[in-house]
Amino acid sequence: MKVLIATEKPFSKVAVDGIKEVTDAAGYELAMLEKYTEKSQLLEAVADADALIVRSDKVDADVIAAAKQLKIVVRAGAGFDNLDLDACTKAGVVAMNTPGQNANSVAELVFGMLVMAVRNFYNGTSGTELKGKKLGILAFGNVGRNVARIAKGFGMDIMAYDAFCPAEAIEAAGVKAAKSQDELFEQCDVVSLHIPATPETKKSINAALVGKMKKGGILVNTARKEVIDEESLLALMQERTDIKYITDIKPDMDADFAAQCEGRYFATPKKMGAQTAEANVNAGIAAANQIVGFIRDGITKFKVN
Ligand code: 3PG
Repeated sequence: MKVLIATEKPFSKVAVDGIKEVTDAAGYELAMLEKYTEKSQLLEAVADADALIVRSDKVDADVIAAAKQLKIVVRAGAGFDNLDLDACTKAGVVAMNTPGQNANSVAELVFGMLVMAVRNFYNGTSGTELKGKKLGILAFGNVGRNVARIAKGFGMDIMAYDAFCPAEAIEAAGVKAAKSQDELFEQCDVVSLHIPATPETKKSINAALVGKMKKGGILVNTARKEVIDEESLLALMQERTDIKYITDIKPDMDADFAAQCEGRYFATPKKMGAQTAEANVNAGIAAANQIVGFIRDGITKFKVN
């Protein structure tokens, strides 16, 4: 049984060591493809793999077709928009994610970026504090809940909206439930996005919505670039020169945002939300255990197709 780790953005060494312990114990072979630059390298590497562990790496129909022996692919992370689920299903490949495993890591980065933004990107001018400010959390899943927990420590006033999570469940976590997405943007000084990229959410964060924010509003994106309507957000930020946008996923229009929203825009050079040793260990080892659990015992918990 051969397990391939294919990660354009590699896991930490400690995570790879942990994955190897799991695959060794099961008697499986472990192969690695890290920092690849061409899709052809991935197509070649998957040819004899029985199981595949990826991060944001694109597993499309070509990859599935090239992976003739593939039985399972696990996205070591939460969002599985990089997996072609139809292609997996048609080929009889089980697809899974590892929900929650990197959530704290992403949530901590929200505050890393947020403090930088309210302190004016450390340019020496007087900024503001987070204490007492209203934070809106859009989608109250594993990351959103961790963001709420940390925000309490900052003394923020927290609201959340989730189209799929009942208000009672949000309130049970000590967070005020907004009645709608619109209300969240209207009420909050900061809105942090934690929605997945789906046909419904793609380009859903647009000028009409962000434009509802109060003066000095900050939009934080550690979710997906696809949820932003970039053209409309950029147009809004040209008009509303008080709004800041900080993101862990470089927009396609990064150069335009950087040039036209100087001092109000920041994008990490590479997505860093889940890039901690702890998140890599948690998600990587969970992925390996899920593979062993599926191949050995037929366990399909966390199957997404
Ligand atoms: C996720 O969906 O789990 C995060 O976006 C992390 O993505 P990454 O593994 O590419 O860092």
